[in-house]
Amino acid sequence: MQNVNQDKLQETVAFIQARIKATPYAGIILGSGLGGLVNDIDVSLSLNYEDIPNFPVSTVKGHGGKLLFGQINGKEVVMLSGRFHYYEGYTMQEVTFPVRVMHSLGAELLMVSNAAGGMHKDFKVGDLMMIRDHINLFPEHPLRGRNDEKIGPRFPDMTEPYALDLIEKARSLAIKNNIEVHEGVYIGLQGPTFETKAEYKFLHIIGGDAVGMSTVPEVIVGKHGGMKVFGMSVITDVGIRDEMNVITHEEVLEAANLAAPRMALLFKELLGVL
Ligand code: HPA
Repeated sequence: MQNVNQDKLQETVAFIQARIKATPYAGIILGSGLGGLVNDIDVSLSLNYEDIPNFPVSTVKGHGGKLLFGQINGKEVVMLSGRFHYYEGYTMQEVTFPVRVMHSLGAELLMVSNAAGGMHKDFKVGDLMMIRDHINLFPEHPLRGRNDEKIGPRFPDMTEPYALDLIEKARSLAIKNNIEVHEGVYIGLQGPTFETKAEYKFLHIIGGDAVGMSTVPEVIVGKHGGMKVFGMSVITDVGIRDEMNVITHEEVLEAANLAAPRMALLFKELLGVL
């Protein structure tokens, strides 16, 4: 099996290209509860996932998801409002298909966000963390399968998955806007269970500062195609703690919603200086 289905990809890209007027510069994927940036996009085209040929369709009724095109701070973007998680049962090809589409449409930059559990001792609920590096603990790799050298190399280099110059720029913008941001290592795993205390401890020992159930597959596929990547986690719960460690999806969404405006501001400001 090919790791990219070129026929399907080209069909999807042709369908979209016939409807957009400008080439997107950045592809943006928003994490759970982090949809705030949707309000900052000057939308020129909105496509429902179910109307786009070959696009994965949401498993949850009424939460169809949209692919939005438009400008943020003067930059052309394409935004995925509603991402596909591996734990929902999608294949890795389906989870990462939107990134292939964004890249094929011309996007050079991939901006991703997620809700994550914090493990660094200085992290509090609601904090922002720029992702400097990641550890891939998903059980399946999105690039498994016959490789198409026209898209990317068989063995992609991953020494700098998250562009250091973008982290640098975002850090200055955060200081300018009085927003506290951390930097750290994101560990991606499949979920859908939150981690046990022992698992959080393990993930911290192996070098993780935050843990979540997304992002890594999309970043790998973006890098495979040659995209530059900027990633940010919102710490929605703190895994390493001694008291009873109950985490709920509601708690995660609430914390994400509170942090979303700060994250949206940084994404917007960063786009403005690129
Ligand atoms: N673990 C995994 N995924 C998450 C968490 C967590 O603690 N918080 C938000 N997403």
